[in-house]
Amino acid sequence: MNRKKRVKEFRVCISVIFFVILHKNINFSSREQKNKHMNPYEIIDKYYPENTEQRQILVIHSLSVSGKAMKILDAHPELRLNRSFVKEAALLHDIGIFQTDAPAIQCFGENPYIAHGYLGAEILRAEGFPQHALVCERHTGAGLSLQDIIDQQLPIPHREMLPVTMEEQLICFADKFFSKTRLDEEKTVEKARKSIAKYGEEGLSRFDRWCSLFL
Ligand SMILES: [Fe+2]
Repeated sequence: MNRKKRVKEFRVCISVIFFVILHKNINFSSREQKNKHMNPYEIIDKYYPENTEQRQILVIHSLSVSGKAMKILDAHPELRLNRSFVKEAALLHDIGIFQTDAPAIQCFGENPYIAHGYLGAEILRAEGFPQHALVCERHTGAGLSLQDIIDQQLPIPHREMLPVTMEEQLICFADKFFSKTRLDEEKTVEKARKSIAKYGEEGLSRFDRWCSLFL
């Protein structure tokens, strides 16, 4: 066997080994999430003591978002969305708010409010739910691109935080219709649009695309 052939065979062998290792890891992490029992209220209970205004605000808001997401999901069977995932992740998307400084919603943490998405993601990753974590991280505004984060000098990690899966996009969209200061109100499309305008033009066009997809 000549040297060239041996080098080629060695390269193929290395590629196969890498492929197997990578594949094993991917399967392991998705199996880990799949097999883990998820009860959103167990996680809420852990971080939000009962009978506090803070918990009430979180739960009422999250139920509104989950309710709207469910209505949209039921109206669009052709999108084949994962119902239990949407319900769980919608209930947990704001789990990080208690770590932020937002006295108007009874949160007295040290971080700026905009950090609640990635902080919530850190909590859910630590709980063993990496896919639900992505919903937390990708729901701020109409999602934030790495460029948005850099341009606006936002105090959050520098990585893409745009909703990717349809489930992530749906929860982000439904969230834009509810604030946590006016818990009894569902915003109109126009009002929801206004509330994300501050995050830039690209967010607005994503929101408009979701209106034609989901409404
Ligand atoms: Fe929210």
